Amino acid sequence: MDLLKQKILNDGIVLSDSVLKVDSFLNHQIDPNLMKEIGDEFVERFRDEKITKILTIESSGIAPAVMTALKLGINVVFARKRKSLTLVNDLYTASVHSFTKNVTNEISVSKSFLDENDRILIIDDFLANGQAALGLLDIVKQANAEAVGIGIVIEKSFQDGGEILRDKGIRVESLAQIESLKNGQVTFKEEVTV
Ligand code: G4P
Repeated sequence: MDLLKQKILNDGIVLSDSVLKVDSFLNHQIDPNLMKEIGDEFVERFRDEKITKILTIESSGIAPAVMTALKLGINVVFARKRKSLTLVNDLYTASVHSFTKNVTNEISVSKSFLDENDRILIIDDFLANGQAALGLLDIVKQANAEAVGIGIVIEKSFQDGGEILRDKGIRVESLAQIESLKNGQVTFKEEVTV
């Protein structure tokens, strides 16, 4: 995903050795052309998986998830982090601890939108410690559905989420893998092509 990497290099701001700010195209303002390319790329990478639904988490996972779902002609379900006025009964729930923010959120998804016939692709904007992805996997498991894999826009490879998930045998496809943010510099991980 050269376009994404260019965007990160041109518009991303390294806030510290561990945090990259991408508010201008992913986390606040959203670049729809980039999101379209991201959706196309996820569809290409998971093309043989017969996906029936995309599962993500509010808020920044929604844009890439919707573009992927649009191309596949399927629906997106996003896990809610806050209690909803109308979403009260028959919920799948999981606890997600953010080491970055030092908060634990209970995330929830209505039981009406996932079932045992679903083949689910999980999509999220960032992969850091993997806690959000683990919470979403827990919800897929509760629904007796199958998780075909996880699509991530930006993986910070120097944090342990990617390793935790891949060690569980889960397929993780990240469109940009960042090896380091040291000295205010974004360094991408070398892509291994086979
Ligand atoms: P984890 O799920 O991989 O364990 O991630 P972690 O708890 O560390 O991250 C918590 C929140 O911070 C998530 O967003 C995640 O996307 C975001 N995040 C983590 N590292 C970075 C980073 O380097 N840059 C940016 N911009 N975000 C990062 P969230 O709180 O769920 O926010 P949102 O989806 O509502 O935007």
